[in-house]
Amino acid sequence: MSFATRILRRSFCTGVYRLAPVNHVTVIGGGSMGNGIAQVTAQAGCQVTMVDQTDEILQKSVNTINKSLQRVVKKKFADDPSKGEEFIQGIMGNISVTTDVTSAVSNTDLVMEAIIENMDIKKKLLVDIDKVAKEHTIFASNTSSLSITEMASVTQRQDRFGGLHFFNPVAVMKLVEVVRTPQTSDETFDTLVEYCKMIGKTTVNCKDTPGFIVNRLLVPYIMEAIRLVERGDASPQDTDIAMKLGAGYPMGPIELADYIGLDINKFVMDGWHEKYPDNPLFNPSPLLDKLVSEGKLGRKTGEGFYKYSK
Ligand code: CAA
Ligand code: NAD
Repeated sequence: MSFATRILRRSFCTGVYRLAPVNHVTVIGGGSMGNGIAQVTAQAGCQVTMVDQTDEILQKSVNTINKSLQRVVKKKFADDPSKGEEFIQGIMGNISVTTDVTSAVSNTDLVMEAIIENMDIKKKLLVDIDKVAKEHTIFASNTSSLSITEMASVTQRQDRFGGLHFFNPVAVMKLVEVVRTPQTSDETFDTLVEYCKMIGKTTVNCKDTPGFIVNRLLVPYIMEAIRLVERGDASPQDTDIAMKLGAGYPMGPIELADYIGLDINKFVMDGWHEKYPDNPLFNPSPLLDKLVSEGKLGRKTGEGFYKYSK
């Protein structure tokens, strides 16, 4: 069972666990996170189908994966470019793309949801795909901040539903938060952990609480930095330099906000503010709202707090 992860399934006869494979993963959403998840899954030898709304977006996603693999190859096969090309072709051969979500989920072991951070849109997608996915198929969401339990509630597979929260850039960041709801079965949870191991990630176990561990700490920190800039207390540049050189962070909070996507930061904050209006850490920022309304979403659109050349 070379690259397949194993599900621990209790055998009725023996009382021991039987392992069932996750050989195929369908990733829905080919944006910053979806294409990274597709890449690392394909790199581990798994078959992947990546779904998005248009062929143009999917082409961009494939190009991004290719570029990311070029970086790996540059180091790994510095002395042998043809081996490097073979390596890339092998991985790209594990990835297929489609705009037809129904066919993409109809025969897969794991669905990774990585679309826009909006509960209603995610729920609509989940209702649709729940009808066509096979019974054994596990659904996992990569949401940054939304309730996994609420998402699972619109499906008939609440026991086969969990959260897999990856970090940006997926190819580099070593962590995945594995989120279980009160309904997530042990078998599902174990499968999700095994899948993460297979793709070379370290996992932490999380309850289904807003922001899990990392974002509950990281997003308020980023928002405090944006508010500091908004008040004119420091420039974005100085704020970033301060946290990199004074606190040892690899990126400052403002450049990290641009890296994550300002729309994602806003969706997270708006959702939490609506749910917990009395928590000042979750207050919206007019500056962030303005940038998002202008389409300045950070690196992915070429401008956010900073400008980026192609
Ligand atoms: N694909 C493959 N490899 C990549 C890559 C990619 N997309 N991006 C970077 N790398 C590799 C580089 O090749 C390089 O490898 P070596 O060290 O072996 O040469 C290494 O990663 C470092 O890259 P760079 O030298 O280009 O740049 P850097 O040293 O400035 O690191 C960074 C870039 C890894 C992004 C680093 O700045 C960093 O860790 N930033 C913080 C990222 C972070 O906090 N992410 C979490 C965001 S929160 C989130 O994701 C959750 C949410 O829900 C919002
Ligand atoms: P993104 O905007 O880069 O990509 C989202 C993709 O989903 C787009 O390509 C869009 O066309 C596609 N999409 C939207 N609705 C769709 C649908 N109904 N069917 C198929 N495709 C659809 O967003 P992202 O940054 O990749 O974030 C995706 C998810 O991952 C969000 O839930 C986000 O909160 C979460 N997340 C983001 C980060 C980050 O740093 N950006 C980190 C961890 C988790």
